[in-house]
Amino acid sequence: MKGARRLRKLLDAMKVLGIDPDDLPPRGVVAEGGWGQLAHVIRTDEPLRDPVDLARFHDYLFETGKAPARELWQRLDPEGPLLDLGGGAGAYSAAFPGEAMLADTPDVLKLAKVHGKLLPLDLLNTARYPGDKGTVLLANVLHLFGEADCRAIVAKAAAALKPNGMLVVKDLDSTTAQGVLFALNMALFTRDGDVHPPEAVRRWMVEADLAEPQRLRLETSPESLVLAARKP
Ligand SMILES: C[S@@+](CC[C@H](N)C(=O)[O-])C[C@H]1O[C@@H](n2cnc3c(N)ncnc32)[C@H](O)[C@@H]1O
Repeated sequence: MKGARRLRKLLDAMKVLGIDPDDLPPRGVVAEGGWGQLAHVIRTDEPLRDPVDLARFHDYLFETGKAPARELWQRLDPEGPLLDLGGGAGAYSAAFPGEAMLADTPDVLKLAKVHGKLLPLDLLNTARYPGDKGTVLLANVLHLFGEADCRAIVAKAAAALKPNGMLVVKDLDSTTAQGVLFALNMALFTRDGDVHPPEAVRRWMVEADLAEPQRLRLETSPESLVLAARKP
């Protein structure tokens, strides 16, 4: 059924929020923008244009990413160089204890707050990512895409590693309340984006010929899923 996947995300979010469908507000009470457009988005099965202010959004991600980035690298003790795919303004590159290459779209790279190497790169339409990396990171990126694109991105990210290098995927955990609510946002604002289940992310990593991923729980970001796997 058209819109069924987006409707499922709404029902999941209502469950998490404890909203009974019979208690929904009457017509005209719901705000016009964002979640107020849910019914329209489900009916048309077309996402809204995200009205995000790019500079403010990346400032916010940079600031909120500082603590998890610091903890992530402290706990993993990674090897360089790092390829930070969809790295935004560079919170994770800035905290990396070694050489880092920040890859994102040209518009976003203009907002980068790191002095390392900047690489304009389209995750979807680039056949190969630059190789020989000790660590490749996908932080808060896979939720923007559907399953087929995620599988392809993870495979190319794994291929960019040198032997014994490590792919790290960090995203929201779909089993947390924050993950469920964020999945509804992705259903509203992206074509196929979703907060993917931990098992799906694990499977993409194993299918990319990486060793069994290890799960890390970040004290600074308990709502996150972090999986790290090495290239044999
Ligand atoms: C939610 S942000 C995460 C930024 C950063 N990794 C962090 O965790 O703070 C997602 C990033 O993916 C980038 N991105 C989305 N689609 C992309 C594409 N096709 N190619 C390259 N980067 C892309 C966006 O520009 C954005 O910087």
